[in-house]
Amino acid sequence: MYDLIVIGGGPGGYLAAERAAEDGLSVALIEKRFLGGVCLNEGCIPTKTLLNSAKIFDYVKHGEAYGVYSENQSFKHSEVIARKNKVTKRLVTGIKAALKAGKVKIVEGEGVVVGNNDGFNVKVGEEIYTGKNLIIATGSVPVIPGIPGLKEALVSGFALTNREMLDMEQVPAELAVIGGGVIGLEMASYFNSAGSKVTVIEMLPHIAGATDGEISEILLKSYEKKGISFMLGAKVTGFAEGSVTFEINGETKTISVDKALVSIGRRAVTEGLGLESIGVDVKRGAIVTDEFCRTNIPGVYAAGDVNGKSMLAHTAYREAEVAVKHIGGKREYMRYNAIPAVIYTNPEVAGVGETEESAKSKGIDYTKASVSMMYSGRYIAENTDYSGICKVLAEKKSGKIIGVHLIGSYASEIIFSAAMMIECELRVSDVREMVFPHPTVSEIIREAVFKIK
Ligand code: FAD
Ligand code: NAI
Repeated sequence: MYDLIVIGGGPGGYLAAERAAEDGLSVALIEKRFLGGVCLNEGCIPTKTLLNSAKIFDYVKHGEAYGVYSENQSFKHSEVIARKNKVTKRLVTGIKAALKAGKVKIVEGEGVVVGNNDGFNVKVGEEIYTGKNLIIATGSVPVIPGIPGLKEALVSGFALTNREMLDMEQVPAELAVIGGGVIGLEMASYFNSAGSKVTVIEMLPHIAGATDGEISEILLKSYEKKGISFMLGAKVTGFAEGSVTFEINGETKTISVDKALVSIGRRAVTEGLGLESIGVDVKRGAIVTDEFCRTNIPGVYAAGDVNGKSMLAHTAYREAEVAVKHIGGKREYMRYNAIPAVIYTNPEVAGVGETEESAKSKGIDYTKASVSMMYSGRYIAENTDYSGICKVLAEKKSGKIIGVHLIGSYASEIIFSAAMMIECELRVSDVREMVFPHPTVSEIIREAVFKIK
């Protein structure tokens, strides 16, 4: 009997196992594919490795703007993929080592919950593992809707999900990206830099989902300047070998492309897990959890994408920790209002807390300042496109910072400071008293905070 069984070895699962082992619990971790899950093998890390190569190439191509000249520049996609595989392998090896050091029993295979008999029983192959507690961290998979021709296109290899896309040996000459959300934009940005002619087809009138509207507009313009085409308000309705059909402004249009990426959202993995055998509540395909990551069954927790709340690796990490603490009798809880979101393209986008749109829809009385990144000396020194902005939202009455949104270099690294301001409920007056290092792009938050009336 283990103190804890974890199903799924992605960020939610492996960190839960690591933290529980650190707290002295005996732990078994079950993983059916690769340790590290989507994040390390076919998500966060592979895409960031690719995007870094794209950024370096973009700089090299435009080096003369900085007085740097080079000849015979070329981009070798196959070498970028080979490097990505090395990076991934190194990180997965590190996770394995950390789990082994914590004496976590790693079980390779598919876990199915089969009952609650003297603890929670999980079957893997012919073996039954029993645990006093259970953390379900089975993650998510791409949504594949019943669009005519899509199933066949996925089988033939004309249509791909992020998994196949990240192992593709050749850069397609023409690529359709279905869905202008985070996966679509990061892939569109990489393949545009790698030489593809990219068309993004997005159902909504804007890109980047819940991103602040003003920032989404700037991002769109910046991608268009790089040569990415966008079909907005366009719903994909059909696939055929070599073409994608969509409806736009009441008309049906078809474009011919070499490959089509399907990135129209992800769904939690709960089917076939045997959750019904112990009565775990599932709503719209995702496990229902509270702020302690508890399910409706005492002793059963869910962390990460499988609860469908915030499909981000850093959310999965924190949920794993909160669940493990609860098992140990401590009451930490999830606060979803200060979770940063980042789009790692060039330019980078990062935001945390309320956007103007969400604040308005909740009826929050807010005040704001939106400043150009040109107020940052470091930003001007290092860029030639000056379209970046920083927007800070504060609650009018209390002066509390409730949202910070950035587009421009280092946004991904700066956003943590803003998340901390929201988490610690800092007011505009508190942040005005803080010292930011100079010259850094982070100073832009200070500029914006001083402009709030
Ligand atoms: P997963 O990482 O999905 O892991 C779940 C694991 O459970 C898998 O390994 C699976 O094989 C295993 N499993 C499932 N069922 C069973 C079973 N029955 N038995 C045994 N094992 C099972 N997030 C970010 O924060 N930043 C990013 O930059 C980012 N980039 C992304 C890029 C892409 C292309 C994609 C697709 C996602 C990205 N994400 C990013 C999201 C991030 O990958 C997920 O939020 C994160 O992986 C969720 O972790 P998880 O542990 O919940 O699930
Ligand atoms: P998403 O929900 O971000 O975007 C999907 C987009 O597809 C939406 O804008 C939607 O309107 C559009 N769409 C849906 N059906 C369509 C149709 N028939 N035709 C045209 N457009 C259609 O989902 P995505 O990009 O698949 O990513 C899934 C999740 O993975 C993200 O929500 C995020 O949580 C995570 N992720 C995070 C990253 C990061 O943190 N940098 C990077 C990549 C993924």
